[in-house]
Amino acid sequence: MSGLYRPVVIGSLTLPGNLFLAPVAGYSDRVFRSLCIAQGADFTCTELVSSEALVRNRSPHDRSSPGDRTNPILRRGDTETRYAIQLFGADPAVMYQAAGLLAPYHPEVVDINCGCPVPKVTKTGAGSALMRNPATLGRIVEAVVRASKEGLGEAPVTVKMRSGWDAASINYRECARIAVEAGAALVSLHARTKAQGYAGQSDWSHIADLVSRIAVPVAGSGDLFSPEDAGRMLQETGCAAVMFARGSMGNPCIFSATRSWLLTGSWMPPEASERLTTGFRHLVLRAADIGERTACREMRKQFCAYTKGLMGGAALRNRLVHAETIAAYRDILRETAAGIE
Ligand SMILES: Cc1cc2nc3c(=O)[nH]c(=O)nc-3n(C[C@H](O)[C@H](O)[C@H](O)COP(=O)(O)O)c2cc1C
Repeated sequence: MSGLYRPVVIGSLTLPGNLFLAPVAGYSDRVFRSLCIAQGADFTCTELVSSEALVRNRSPHDRSSPGDRTNPILRRGDTETRYAIQLFGADPAVMYQAAGLLAPYHPEVVDINCGCPVPKVTKTGAGSALMRNPATLGRIVEAVVRASKEGLGEAPVTVKMRSGWDAASINYRECARIAVEAGAALVSLHARTKAQGYAGQSDWSHIADLVSRIAVPVAGSGDLFSPEDAGRMLQETGCAAVMFARGSMGNPCIFSATRSWLLTGSWMPPEASERLTTGFRHLVLRAADIGERTACREMRKQFCAYTKGLMGGAALRNRLVHAETIAAYRDILRETAAGIE
């Protein structure tokens, strides 16, 4: 494993290590990102944010205005010294304007979503649909790079893509080449097609192939569920960084475990009580951002992840889905986990 945990250079930004948290809509909120950083994540990214919504002077999810530095979707986490904001859109001019509006948040990186398979996004030509239109992708990268030079202190611009639209149109090579020519400083590759969604296996040979073809670092994504998976991806593909997505949900400890695996060749799974205590901390801090009632409801799905694989997890989930207050969560979790206050 030795030598697999190493720094990553993204344009002008040098990261101390190569364990990234992937953007995961509905899960990787700023509190969760901070919990991952506490466990050793080297880089984090917001979930995808609509450029159209930003520019139309609304928050990405209609919660507040784009200039509002309290917008929890765009804001960095309390311990997030470096982060990326991910934008999606299909119009270079709108993406340019949206990137400019990120100035109050000072992101270290702006990432462009080229992989989202959700119809609401792809029908507008954005997300993975951009891979069907590489010329537009190139213009979008150019536009965001320009906006970054003008208003974001030249923060590097990166692109996160899939292998292609479907098995008959695998075109990550072309899309990545065009993105890099337009100024992208790193390409993340989720090695599935849009048609695959999140099913089936990701094809890591695409990641290895891309590594050999472009001059900027490649971050690999797809099927990283354990420290061993991360070690294998780094070893087999030569990618510069690995991005945990579903494997980190309810399990920020995957970062410390992976770091330990890569540096020492061993790792310990977290105790059940540690996972639940972390989930409870997530709830309390999330409530401070979006209010107790909304956080308690939103955290139900997060607790499905925090209790996954735990003994008695199903019974715990059945009770937690009825919890409407922090106090109710506390009472239920205290029965299982010591250390919840
Ligand atoms: C619920 C969910 C939400 C996601 N949201 C985003 C997103 O906002 N932006 C993005 O680029 N990728 C998003 N992804 C894709 C992940 O970042 C990652 O590339 C993908 O899940 C593959 O990794 P995995 O197989 O290890 O989960 C999402 C994935 C899931 C499951």
